Amino acid sequence: MNVNAVLVAITLALLTCGPRCIYSDDQRLLVNMTLVRNASALGAFCLDGSLPAYHLHRGFGGGARNWLLQFEGGGWCNSTKSCLDRANTRRGSTRYMSKWEVFSGILSNNASLNPDFYNWNRVKLRYCDGASFAGDAVYKNGTSLLYFRGQKIWEAIILDLLPKGLGQARKALLSGSSAGGLSSFLHCNNFTKYLPSTASVKCLSDAGFFLDERDISSNHTMRSFVKDVVSLHGVEKNLDENCTASYLNFPELCFFPQYAMKFITPPFFILNSAYDVYQFHHILVPPSADPQGHWNRCKLNPAACNPQQLNALQEFRRGMIVAVGLSYKYSRRGGFFINSCFAHGQSESQDTWFAADSPRVHNRTIAEAVGDWYFNRRATKEIDCPYPCVTTCHNLIP
Ligand SMILES: *[C@@H]1O[C@H](CO)[C@@H](O)[C@H](O)[C@H]1NC(C)=O
Ligand SMILES: *[C@@H]1O[C@H](CO)[C@@H](O)[C@H](O)[C@H]1NC(C)=O
Ligand SMILES: *[C@@H]1O[C@H](CO)[C@@H](O)[C@H](O)[C@H]1NC(C)=O
Ligand SMILES: *[C@@H]1O[C@H](CO)[C@@H](O)[C@H](O)[C@H]1NC(C)=O
Ligand SMILES: *[C@@H]1O[C@H](CO)[C@@H](O)[C@H](O)[C@H]1NC(C)=O
Ligand SMILES: *[C@@H]1O[C@H](CO)[C@@H](O)[C@H](O)[C@H]1NC(C)=O
Ligand SMILES: *[C@@H]1O[C@H](CO)[C@@H](O)[C@H](O)[C@H]1NC(C)=O
Ligand SMILES: *[C@@H]1O[C@H](CO)[C@@H](O)[C@H](O)[C@H]1NC(C)=O
Ligand SMILES: *[C@@H]1O[C@H](CO)[C@@H](O)[C@H](O)[C@H]1NC(C)=O
Repeated sequence: MNVNAVLVAITLALLTCGPRCIYSDDQRLLVNMTLVRNASALGAFCLDGSLPAYHLHRGFGGGARNWLLQFEGGGWCNSTKSCLDRANTRRGSTRYMSKWEVFSGILSNNASLNPDFYNWNRVKLRYCDGASFAGDAVYKNGTSLLYFRGQKIWEAIILDLLPKGLGQARKALLSGSSAGGLSSFLHCNNFTKYLPSTASVKCLSDAGFFLDERDISSNHTMRSFVKDVVSLHGVEKNLDENCTASYLNFPELCFFPQYAMKFITPPFFILNSAYDVYQFHHILVPPSADPQGHWNRCKLNPAACNPQQLNALQEFRRGMIVAVGLSYKYSRRGGFFINSCFAHGQSESQDTWFAADSPRVHNRTIAEAVGDWYFNRRATKEIDCPYPCVTTCHNLIP
């Protein structure tokens, strides 16, 4: 959008949706960034030392006292080198981020695009720490300085939002996608403690159910990656203490949702594809496990997978179903929606969240399934049939 378009849109905004948002030419809702000025008092900084930020679009009508918080995703950094690189990008610094974010899917303010949450206060928490909002450390060596302060960023944003109405919330949903979906697991218990005891508080993870599975060469690639992230960022002390107490010699396992779940008290919803493409490409078949590139065609197009490759994918799906099932032994009020689309993140894109042709399981869209669960309209424990049976998928392969 050029400068003139912004000015026109801002003028429009004052007429249509208040000072914090505008509509772009194609009717997309754009929401202004708020820097958390008080964050420095808490030592809450992005990797590069910049202030953390969020985008808030106010609720209205019946939703005026309800709050949806959505953690942004974007992978992790696992070494000083990769974190220094990240510090100079939008993933590690608010300096490089877009100051206006598109609010679509679960963040949309349009009832016909987001039937249950459109009139809530909706907040997007920007991700700039590299460890799912869970680290607390600093790296310094004379020439380089890195802030691993995700946990502090989480606290600073909550403290900033409480006086803006979050502190009087009636209903709340802590949500997030990808690395942000993982944050939702890690902060779900802590979130409830800030809210009135009378509030209905639930949590949702979209594409955040990262599995502790071996890769196709039988290596624990993901587990050792997670171990590096946890130790570099000082995450361990922020993991659930009852969880780390029960995995004494492997506290980093509590970064994996499948182990953390049974310690989470609020009702939890897991939205994930059984063939999540991030997990397919980085957990099941990381480049290190396929140096010859035998999987390259299959990674780009599931129809090009040979029978052994399909087998490995079906095994992975079975592993996810077992892990989800075990997680819900402890949570009767939880829900899940495990579909079979080759995708990663389905709540923030309108096409996958709620549209005429969006993915369905038993004829329910993701928006309907999540809404039915949140408002206790209907139990929601959906598992899609295995690939290639599905016809409603948008296979979104990067
Ligand atoms: C955007 O947000 C900043 C800081 O929160 C504020 O100063 C500015 O007026 C806002 N701009 C618009 C157009 O809403
Ligand atoms: C972990 O860090 C190393 C060293 O910077 C890097 O080579 C590797 O790609 C990283 N792994 C991932 C999965 O990002
Ligand atoms: C809401 O979305 C519907 C369906 O896309 C569209 O027809 C309508 O114009 C939108 N309303 C607003 C206020 O943007
Ligand atoms: C500090 O760390 C960075 C990244 O690891 C490295 O490039 C730099 O040479 C180090 N500086 C010193 C003084 O060790
Ligand atoms: C920022 O911190 C100061 C001092 O702790 C406090 O008085 C002020 O209310 C805070 N502002 C916000 C927006 O939280
Ligand atoms: C949430 O977690 C942080 C970090 O562990 C802690 O300092 C804070 O007191 C917790 N908040 C509440 C309300 O328990
Ligand atoms: C994976 O495991 C094999 C043995 O199964 C080992 O030779 C190889 O070094 C491992 N690769 C990585 C990247 O850890
Ligand atoms: C750990 O478990 C005990 C006993 O069930 C509980 O009182 C405590 O709040 C739990 N701690 C955390 C951090 O969840
Ligand atoms: C699926 O749901 C739509 C409404 O969302 C309805 O119009 C349609 O008839 C349903 N199809 C079946 C096969 O139940």
